[in-house]
Amino acid sequence: MADTFSIVVLISGNGSNLQAIIDSIAREQWPIEIKAVISNQSSAYGLQRAHAANIAVEVIERKQFTSRAAFDHALQTSLQHHNPDLIVLAGFMHILAPEFVQAFNNKLINIHPSLLPKFKGLNTHQRALDAAEKTHGCSVHYVTTELDAGQVIAQAQCDINTDESADSLQQKVHALEHELLPKVIHQLSQNTKNS
Ligand code: GRF
Repeated sequence: MADTFSIVVLISGNGSNLQAIIDSIAREQWPIEIKAVISNQSSAYGLQRAHAANIAVEVIERKQFTSRAAFDHALQTSLQHHNPDLIVLAGFMHILAPEFVQAFNNKLINIHPSLLPKFKGLNTHQRALDAAEKTHGCSVHYVTTELDAGQVIAQAQCDINTDESADSLQQKVHALEHELLPKVIHQLSQNTKNS
């Protein structure tokens, strides 16, 4: 289909966000094709989710390569081969090299479990609790050369209850992520169509 918007999803683990994307596309019948799921971990459960949905999978692991540059190059080559309209980082645990980010300028988005610019990096739920925040949430942002610092596209937020734990907060934020990320992908696909 000429006006099908294509994406590639990069994962490292469970892939619950990948599942949310797969389910939303099917449920809403959006003209969006997931061309491939690429994981940098062969054990990632998300690979099974992709298999179950008949999506092509690729495993590109750092340990297969002698250098980080060689790994980045393999990933870049694969993405250039698929040539998607958008590359979605959904729990992809690898910091991309500047050359890589520049090669896919404005085509890379990431889901991050905090209300950016607060709590870049890891352990965001515990850090939000430690900082006595009243609200927390997630952000979808463009990927730039600086970690978790690219332009925020959309956010979703929840209250932090007085008896909240990092685990309960993580569950709440995950539920928000599963709504937000597919919506943003759909919105971007619509913007492309209308531009
Ligand atoms: C999510 O919390 C996402 O915000 C972060 O990594 C986690 C991935 O979860 N970047 P999953 O693999 O999609 O279940």
